[in-house]
Amino acid sequence: MGGARAVSTQRTTKSAQGASDPTSMVLAESRRKIAARSWVSAHAGVTETFDVALKCISGEIPRDLVGVLFRNGPGTFELFGTRYGHLFDGDGHVQRLAFDGSTVRYRDRFVDTRERQREREAGRMLYRAFGSNRPGGMRANAFDPIFKNAANTTAFAHRGALYALWEAGLPHRLDPVTLDTLAREDFAEALLAPPTRWTEIAGRERPFSAHPKVDPRTGEMHNFGLANGPFSSLVLYRMSAEGVMQAPEVHRLDAMYFVHDFALTEHHRLLFLCPARFDVVRTMLGLRTPVSGMQYDPSRGTKIWIVPREGGEPTVLEAPLGFVFHHVNAWENADKTIVCDALVYGHYPTLPHPWDLDTLAIAPARADLAYVTRITLDPTRRVVQSERWLDLPCELPGIDPARVGQPYRYAWVTATDRHRPMQVVTRVAKLDMHTRTTVEREFFPRVVGEPVFVARDGASTQDEGWLIVMAYDPTEDRGECHVLDAATLESVCVLALPHACPLGFHGSFVRG
Ligand SMILES: [Fe+2]
Repeated sequence: MGGARAVSTQRTTKSAQGASDPTSMVLAESRRKIAARSWVSAHAGVTETFDVALKCISGEIPRDLVGVLFRNGPGTFELFGTRYGHLFDGDGHVQRLAFDGSTVRYRDRFVDTRERQREREAGRMLYRAFGSNRPGGMRANAFDPIFKNAANTTAFAHRGALYALWEAGLPHRLDPVTLDTLAREDFAEALLAPPTRWTEIAGRERPFSAHPKVDPRTGEMHNFGLANGPFSSLVLYRMSAEGVMQAPEVHRLDAMYFVHDFALTEHHRLLFLCPARFDVVRTMLGLRTPVSGMQYDPSRGTKIWIVPREGGEPTVLEAPLGFVFHHVNAWENADKTIVCDALVYGHYPTLPHPWDLDTLAIAPARADLAYVTRITLDPTRRVVQSERWLDLPCELPGIDPARVGQPYRYAWVTATDRHRPMQVVTRVAKLDMHTRTTVEREFFPRVVGEPVFVARDGASTQDEGWLIVMAYDPTEDRGECHVLDAATLESVCVLALPHACPLGFHGSFVRG
């Protein structure tokens, strides 16, 4: 377990001692380069898939950790020799790790989207993507509004089904055991827009974000989809506890925004509409991609929509908050105020291609780092207050699914050193939102992915359970699955994957 250790930090952190010391700066630069190389190696791309029992290389598989971890993320970063333009563009690669108390069975598969099938038949890139145009410039891309559904952002397990989600299109339903791709899921056509002249060109498939929320008290599932284009709109979805998708609520937007995630409370859905400008004309002409044509626009404030869960018009508040990808959690107070914790950046962050070694090794700009920020909303007085809650740069927050929409104490994140931050992440942290302290676990020279919390049955504290973290070990050139004690972040066991594997974005754990 080279380099792994748990540290506690206090609420107020002093400046790093020796931060400007030349030796310290050289060491930091050297660590950034090593971590960047590790990140590049981890993202070489999946060339073979497996169905094997994993070898436990350290510790012991916990007897009472029973269930299945699903992960999803781009499995490739080029296609037939053409490098994708962005980290987000590769086809979804789903991993399944089944824990039975003594063994762990591993399976991985690409999501077999129709776009992937067609491209493999053709042997060339056929579709535009979020950050990639087809080779051939304007002639090959102009006036094509159809983008590849990469199905690569999360593996969402709900009511016995498994979905590979991508925020700008339909979910793909997978077999939760074999990972076979079963259907492009429109939930009895609820995710198909009514036919219009525009849908004749762009298709009827509605966006469905990769961050659905399930209310642990009612079993209801909520989600949203954001459609940017000539007619921007926000679509809100609600599925009953019995699995019936309601007719979606469609809200026309007054401008273009970026929304990746949302928060759910007992009575409301909270959506932070981050102001963005999209160069629609150049994107339609094929001179830009959606991501290269997007610019965060801080001259407009963030619009915070508070929408009743049962439907209806939103209460809209506005505040200069910064850019938000992910929310941690939210809840309502007795006085009708709402508290929402989010990870806030100074602007839309730079996300280098995972093969851009030189760019990845550069120290990030402060505005490219996200910090946990507590935002208190008073819809009656129309007041928004925000406060940076912790000074740790972090991302990919996870909480106990049983605490969604309620007051909570702990969250787990990927993180980087607050004094010597890196663009790639080698650290996992536990956030104590009450005491505003962190416990951090350094994995350098490994790089790590999103931590997933699994509560122990009958737990007496909110942090009693496990944290499952996928990692890449450059010394062995292989992927790993680390099971940690969620309270202390001490190692419980380490499992070796049969290959080097990209770290992906999001996933979920289903109890056995
Ligand atoms: Fe996300």
